[in-house]
Amino acid sequence: MSEKMRTLTEPFKIKMVEALRVTTEEYRNEALAKAGYNPFLLKADDVFIDFLTDSGTGAMSDRQWSGIMLGDESYAGAKSWQHLEAVVKDLTGMPYVIPTHQGRAAERILYSILGGKGKVFISNTHFDTTRANIEFVGSEAFDIVCKEADDINAYADFKGNIDLEKLEELIAKYGKEAIGAVIMTVTNNSSGGQPVSMENMKAVRKACDKHGLMMVIDGCRIAENSYFVKQREKGFENKTHKEIAQEMLNLGDAFVMSAKKDGMVNIGGLLTLKDEALSVQCKNLLIISEGFLTYGGLAGRDMEALAIGLQEVFDKDYLHYRIRSTAYLGEKLRAKGVPVVWPIGGHAVYVDAQKLYSNIPVEEYPGQALVCDLYLKGGIRCVEIGSVMFGKYDEQGKLIPAAQELVRMALPRRVYTQSHLDYVLDIFDDILEMKNRNKGYRITYEPQFLRHFTANFEPIK
Ligand code: F0G
Repeated sequence: MSEKMRTLTEPFKIKMVEALRVTTEEYRNEALAKAGYNPFLLKADDVFIDFLTDSGTGAMSDRQWSGIMLGDESYAGAKSWQHLEAVVKDLTGMPYVIPTHQGRAAERILYSILGGKGKVFISNTHFDTTRANIEFVGSEAFDIVCKEADDINAYADFKGNIDLEKLEELIAKYGKEAIGAVIMTVTNNSSGGQPVSMENMKAVRKACDKHGLMMVIDGCRIAENSYFVKQREKGFENKTHKEIAQEMLNLGDAFVMSAKKDGMVNIGGLLTLKDEALSVQCKNLLIISEGFLTYGGLAGRDMEALAIGLQEVFDKDYLHYRIRSTAYLGEKLRAKGVPVVWPIGGHAVYVDAQKLYSNIPVEEYPGQALVCDLYLKGGIRCVEIGSVMFGKYDEQGKLIPAAQELVRMALPRRVYTQSHLDYVLDIFDDILEMKNRNKGYRITYEPQFLRHFTANFEPIK
């Protein structure tokens, strides 16, 4: 086994355990049928390894749990708020810090002020909630990820980058007045969890300066991105992960963060700004919809845990374990012949279900079939990111499929050990063995919006 294939032994020991329930395949068959073959509708208790998301699912440290006890629940000016504000200012270099209950609340506040009818937003890739908040206020959102991202099998260091040529084209087309902001999602969640380079970020800053535009960083995985920059980008070998994050965040005019990821907490969000006038507008909306300036949507204990989490996440041993764990799973799957988005991103492994289940046509949702098989065989829960999530219908009611049929396996932080990952790898042996016998699925119920959350399916006999 090469150095690259090895994961780092978990740099923590376990002080408290949460039991996982071992179920039989027969039991899971019944549970999945009851859930309409949609793993979102399963009881979490019926899941053995939960890869649905890395958001809010991480384990807090002993230091964070101690912080919970120290949480100051004063309505205004709490000690825990001061702690959090100081940590966030130090990280972002931005003077105005606004706490929210999670990432999308920060998005809603910021984009309802910057957006509106006739406005456009440009991003490497907008995350779903970002796009939804932008479209909700009547604006348009354009994704222009770099060309390297088109080929999911080809290696490139920074496939999360924005396409700088297309950025200039869109700026020329819409003009300064119409552009709400350029949003850099770091790492690029909807594009394979791939990192963004400092060079690309600096070029975006330059373009924004040239045209008088605002640059927003959606940086909920900023620490993970820093790991890749240190590893792959010249000139950053000797900087700490935190210094890299500080340098990158300093490039932005605003920072939105779902703290449920690299904040290492189960709930929380942040919005930070450089501009005072904009911060006043945002704070007005915060008070109306989230809470007072010094807690937003958070309890004092949540803010205390977040202040600590935002420091722990930059621990070099933690970050190495984190990124190598994801790579360990992804690289070993690839070695088995499972097609995965390459290279492996920071928080998740994305399996190409269309390629793996090449006998299942897109109209029968190969991604959904894989998601169901992983649950049936191993109690593993993942999410389809393909035509169930993004498919549309034409006027005749025929499916317009998504560009790709992927299945995302997102790893919660500090939750599973290498032996859990080895178990998942074992289950994939079963999947590979039965892949040609697999049948697709048909939708039996779907809501009008965001159908993947609540749709029901049945296996095609
Ligand atoms: N931006 C990015 C890049 C995200 O990945 C998410 C959430 C959000 C914003 C919204 O934050 O959930 O705290 O409101 N991503 C989760 C996921 C849900 O599973 O990838 P939130």
